[in-house]
Amino acid sequence: MDWNPAMLIEEVRRIVDGPGADTARLQRVCDLLAERVPHYDWVGFYFVNPDNERELVLGPYTGATTEHTRIPFGRGVCGRAAEERQTVIVGDVTREENYLACSAATKAEIVAPIFHSGVMVGQIDIDSHTTDPFTPRDRELLDTLRHLVAPLLHP
Ligand code: SME
Repeated sequence: MDWNPAMLIEEVRRIVDGPGADTARLQRVCDLLAERVPHYDWVGFYFVNPDNERELVLGPYTGATTEHTRIPFGRGVCGRAAEERQTVIVGDVTREENYLACSAATKAEIVAPIFHSGVMVGQIDIDSHTTDPFTPRDRELLDTLRHLVAPLLHP
């Protein structure tokens, strides 16, 4: 099944502009991406902890339960994206030393930080069961998406 980034962005826009609590809308975004993009097997948001600005706290997600509900900046792929304040793509997690295993099935991961009014408020994290699945199309999708959802993340 092919996926269309432009169509997904339109659907995300409708969810963001639609009704519901912020976390409920973020949950719908996770569900949408996990359902439509064949190589997205876990999709979730982490928030920057307002009480500890060097820690990420798990928000809405779709996929297997994870023990990584709190991640310090610098740890794992998520912590690295937070520390570097930029998108991190790991095509093969078995070759990554700074990695926090969420599920044994995960082979690759992409994490994009989310900024609201210049402040980093969280990130979107996507795991794949396929090795090296991410292309510039994924990066572009997340680049647009993170701007759209930013108002729904609370610092
Ligand atoms: N693998 C992540 C941890 C979060 S889970 O993938 C949901 C990491 O290395 O930071």
